[in-house]
Amino acid sequence: MFDNNFDNNIDKHNSTFFGSVVISGASSGIGQACAIHLDKLGYQVFAGVRKEIDGQNLINKSSGRIIPIILDVTDETSIKKAIYRVKKILGSKGLTALINNAAIVIPGALEYIPVSKLRKQLEVNVIGLLSLTQACLPLLRKVSGRIINMGSQNGKFSPPFLGTYSASKFAVEALTDALRVELQPWGMHVSVVEPGAIKTPVWKKCTNDGLQIFNSFPKEVKQLYSLGFDVMYKAALESAETAIPCEIVAKTVEKILTAKKPKTRYVIGLDAKITILLSQIMPDRLFDKILTLYFGYPTTTKAQTTYEQQETSQKNKSLHRV
Ligand SMILES: NC(=O)c1ccc[n+]([C@@H]2O[C@H](COP(=O)([O-])OP(=O)(O)OC[C@H]3O[C@@H](n4cnc5c(N)ncnc54)[C@H](OP(=O)(O)O)[C@@H]3O)[C@@H](O)[C@H]2O)c1
Repeated sequence: MFDNNFDNNIDKHNSTFFGSVVISGASSGIGQACAIHLDKLGYQVFAGVRKEIDGQNLINKSSGRIIPIILDVTDETSIKKAIYRVKKILGSKGLTALINNAAIVIPGALEYIPVSKLRKQLEVNVIGLLSLTQACLPLLRKVSGRIINMGSQNGKFSPPFLGTYSASKFAVEALTDALRVELQPWGMHVSVVEPGAIKTPVWKKCTNDGLQIFNSFPKEVKQLYSLGFDVMYKAALESAETAIPCEIVAKTVEKILTAKKPKTRYVIGLDAKITILLSQIMPDRLFDKILTLYFGYPTTTKAQTTYEQQETSQKNKSLHRV
């Protein structure tokens, strides 16, 4: 029903377009930047969104030729409907590229993060990515299309409180490596993009969710992880401040689409270049030490003591007030 609202856009769609691209998670951040950039270059963009308003927003921000498709990567029916629609519009043509971009970040200490949250994290970032890929492959194969998986620097190292997100991005690396060889016979290229901190709404979502999850923990858990949470929360706020614009990722995506033979991996940002390199050349314990120092991550006993001190000082303050 909703997709039909955008069918007027199909008339605007230029049959001599440069190529066609499906992008998941195009409502904001990197996905939106890629949709707008590729549209400007002349690609026919099928932009995956979950809300009608986000599709309209994309049309307003672009040439008007972008075709929003309702796409929830955790919902098989939604994937089927979306790709059926893409197929209908493309007719006998194949799909030039799939950009697997949709993802969520659920931060928290692994000891206590609800397992349901881990399931959700993997469902969107890993299983959703593969389900959409499977649905697009027949269309991609027709023209030896390309697949670009949005990974992360956290697909190479796993900092505290980002264990579930990193697990999902390590899995994206694994899927990319296997797919790359499996799809070789049809001349299809699969690349993974590994950005560091990029300025997008994800930082706000992730710090808000992190705070909410932490606050839902019982007092004893907060005691154990309070200082660890504080330093990682501050680190996330700082990363959000120093993050680089998402248009840089969009330009890398353009490079992957237009390269004669794209590279298998694209690391974006100085932070990602340095941390990925260090994580690969250093012994684990030395790298752990560097991360610990960099974040100011505490030892458990120090964290507990600090939390107890905070509690006592708060109690004293309330007593004084009384
Ligand atoms: N920003 C960074 O610093 C950074 C760094 C490294 C890698 N990355 C990666 O870059 C990609 C884009 O992230 P971003 O920073 O641009 O974040 P973002 O602005 O939060 O965008 C995430 C997108 O994923 C969509 N999404 C979430 N759940 C979905 C689902 N079940 N089905 C379909 N779409 C869904 C969101 O749609 P709704 O609006 O409907 O929720 C949104 O469009 C992700 O793969 C992320 O891991 C980002």
